[in-house]
Amino acid sequence: MRRYVRVLALCIVFAIVSVLYVFSNLSSLGTSVAVVGGLAFSRPSSLQSDVGKIARRWPETRGPVDLQDYRQGAGGDTGSPSTPPTRPPPPPSPPERRRRREEEPMHLAVVACGDRQEETLTMLKSVVLLSAGPMSFHVFAEEQLHQGFRDELDSWPSLHRSKFNYTIYPISFPGKHQEEWKKLFKPCASQRLFLPILLKDVDSLLYVDTDILFLRPLEDAWALLSRFNATQLAAASPEHEEPRIAWYNRFARHPYYGTTGVNSGVMLMNLTRIRAALFKNDMTSVGLHWGELLLPLFHKYKLNITWGDQDLINIIFHHNPENLYVFPCHWNFRPDHCIYGSNCDAAKQEGVFILHGNRGVFHDPRQPAFRAIYDAIRKHPLEQDLVSSLLLPLEIKLNQTTHTYCGKVHHLFTQNFGPTLIDLQRSRDQDG
Ligand SMILES: *[C@@H]1O[C@H](CO)[C@@H](O)[C@H](O)[C@H]1NC(C)=O
Ligand SMILES: *[C@@H]1O[C@H](CO)[C@@H](O)[C@H](O)[C@H]1NC(C)=O
Ligand SMILES: *[C@@H]1O[C@H](CO)[C@@H](O)[C@H](O)[C@H]1NC(C)=O
Ligand SMILES: *[C@@H]1O[C@H](CO)[C@@H](O)[C@H](O)[C@H]1NC(C)=O
Ligand SMILES: *[C@@H]1O[C@H](CO)[C@@H](O)[C@H](O)[C@H]1NC(C)=O
Ligand SMILES: *[C@@H]1O[C@H](CO)[C@@H](O)[C@H](O)[C@H]1NC(C)=O
Repeated sequence: MRRYVRVLALCIVFAIVSVLYVFSNLSSLGTSVAVVGGLAFSRPSSLQSDVGKIARRWPETRGPVDLQDYRQGAGGDTGSPSTPPTRPPPPPSPPERRRRREEEPMHLAVVACGDRQEETLTMLKSVVLLSAGPMSFHVFAEEQLHQGFRDELDSWPSLHRSKFNYTIYPISFPGKHQEEWKKLFKPCASQRLFLPILLKDVDSLLYVDTDILFLRPLEDAWALLSRFNATQLAAASPEHEEPRIAWYNRFARHPYYGTTGVNSGVMLMNLTRIRAALFKNDMTSVGLHWGELLLPLFHKYKLNITWGDQDLINIIFHHNPENLYVFPCHWNFRPDHCIYGSNCDAAKQEGVFILHGNRGVFHDPRQPAFRAIYDAIRKHPLEQDLVSSLLLPLEIKLNQTTHTYCGKVHHLFTQNFGPTLIDLQRSRDQDG
C-alpha cells in the first residue's frame, strides 16, 4: 500500500516535470516530442537520456522486473576499449554498483583554501548523491577549515556516509620553496601538482577544482582510466572548443598542449604511471621524473605563466603529448561553452556530465543557469526526495534563465542529471 502511494506520488511529480519540459523550447536542437499517456513530452533524441524511456515505462512499471528490463534496455555496451571516446560507458546498473563495494575505492582529490569550503562540500555532495562508491576523498585544506569539513561530512545520513571514507591533509610543499608555491596563481592551487608525490599509496585519482558539480556518477569518470593506452597517464579536456575565442593560442607566452591547451579543472591521473615516467622537457636533454620537473619548470616560466598550475601542466604535456588522454568537453563544461552560443558538441549530443563553474559563476548573477544548479544542490537536504526536493525546483529555476545563452541550453544541464535522479529515487523507493 505504502509503495503504491509512493509510486502514485512519483507519477504526479513526473507529470509536472513533463509539463515543464513541454514549456521549455520544443524547437531546440536535438529535441523530439513523444506523447506519454496523454502528456506531451519532450526529450533529447540522443543516447541515454532516459527521461523518455522512463516516461514510456513509468505508467506500466509495477516492480523490479520492469525496472530490470528498463535498465538492460537502456544499457548499450559496457565501455569496452573499442567504443569511441565521445561515447561514455552507460551508468552501471545497481547490481554492478553493488559489486564495486568489494573493490578498490575510487579516489577523488580536491584542494580547498580561503572561502572555498562550502563550494567544496557542495561538489562532494553532488558526488555522493549520484555515486554508489566505495570512494575515498582526499581533501587538502588550510588548518582552520579542517574541523568544518569533518563536522559536515560526518553529519551526512548513513545512506551516503557509508559510501566514502575521507582524509583531510594540511597544505604542504616539498623543500624550501613553500612560500613561492603558495603564491602561484590562486592560494593553494599548486598543491595539486604534488599529489603524485604526497599520495604515495594511491594508484589513481580524479582531481577536481572546488567549483565543480557532478551531473553523472563518479563511476563514469573513473571508467575512463581503463581507456588509457600504454603511454597515457593523465586525462583532461581541451581548454577551448573554438580557437577564435580561446586563450592559449592568442595570449600564452609559454608552450601549451595541442591547439587550444588543456583545462586542468577535471583531471584523471594514474599516479603510479606518473611516478614512474620520465618526462621530456626543454631544460635538459634527459627525461625527468615528475618530482624533479616541477621546480625547474616553475623557475623557468614563472614570469610568463598566467593560470599557475594549469600552465605548468600545459607545458609538461606540450613536450609529452603521448602521455595525455583528452576527453571531450562535456566532462568539463564551462561558461565558455555556452556564453557566446553553444560550442561543445559532445554536450549537444549527450548532455553535460561534469559542470565547471569557473570564474565564480556559481556565486554571482552573471550566469543564472550555472548558479541555479549550484544552489539547488547546495540547498538540497540529503535525506529528502531527489525529484520533488531537487529536480523539480531546479527545473523551475532553470526555466527562468532562458534570457541568457547558457540558459537557452539548460536542457543539456539536466539531460543526464534528471534521469539519474529519477532513477535513484525509484531505487530508494523500492529498497525502502
Ligand atoms: C526557441 O528556439 C527557436 C529556434 O531555436 C528560437 O528562435 C526561439 O527564440 C526559442 N524560444 C525561446 C523561448 O527560447
Ligand atoms: C572505510 O574504511 C573502513 C576501515 O578501513 C573500511 O572498513 C570501509 O570499508 C571503508 N569504506 C569505504 C566506503 O571505503
Ligand atoms: C616569456 O615571454 C617572453 C615574451 O613573450 C619571451 O620572449 C620569452 O622567451 C618567454 N620565456 C620563456 C622561458 O619562454
Ligand atoms: C595505473 O597504471 C598502472 C601501471 O601501468 C596499472 O597497473 C594500474 O592498473 C593503472 N590503474 C588504473 C586504475 O587503471
Ligand atoms: C596513446 O595515445 C596517444 C594519443 O592518441 C598517442 O600519441 C600515443 O602514441 C599512444 N600510445 C601508444 C602506445 O599507442
Ligand atoms: C517557463 O518559462 C516560460 C517562458 O519563459 C514561461 O512562460 C512558463 O510559465 C515557465 N513555466 C514554469 C513552470 O515556470
